[in-house]
Amino acid sequence: MVTRLVPPASDPVEPGAFTPITITVNGESVSGVLGQTLAGVMLGANVLAWRTTRRQGRPRGAFCGIGVCFDCLVEVNGQRDVRACQRRAASGDVVVSQGAPPPREDR
Ligand code: FES
Repeated sequence: MVTRLVPPASDPVEPGAFTPITITVNGESVSGVLGQTLAGVMLGANVLAWRTTRRQGRPRGAFCGIGVCFDCLVEVNGQRDVRACQRRAASGDVVVSQGAPPPREDR
């Protein structure tokens, strides 16, 4: 896949001015643009994986990007199980990687 950056002046969509935002991902500041999803901000900062699978601890990030697969779950501002591809980032959001839930006592 080839990515290309269209300069705003020649973009036929004519985007308005960008509003920069900053979120925190696992304690590190990450910059993005207002309107991006959390996944978009993280992918833009080259953060490709932010959780691990329950059984084998394999890295996961965004897979479908449309809210179907739940591979992108993160904890945001203390709330678990947020789909990063569906949640718009807000300046000051605190995102923490989410591993497997704690073991249940009744197993
Ligand atoms: S990437 Fe599939 S639900 Fe978010």
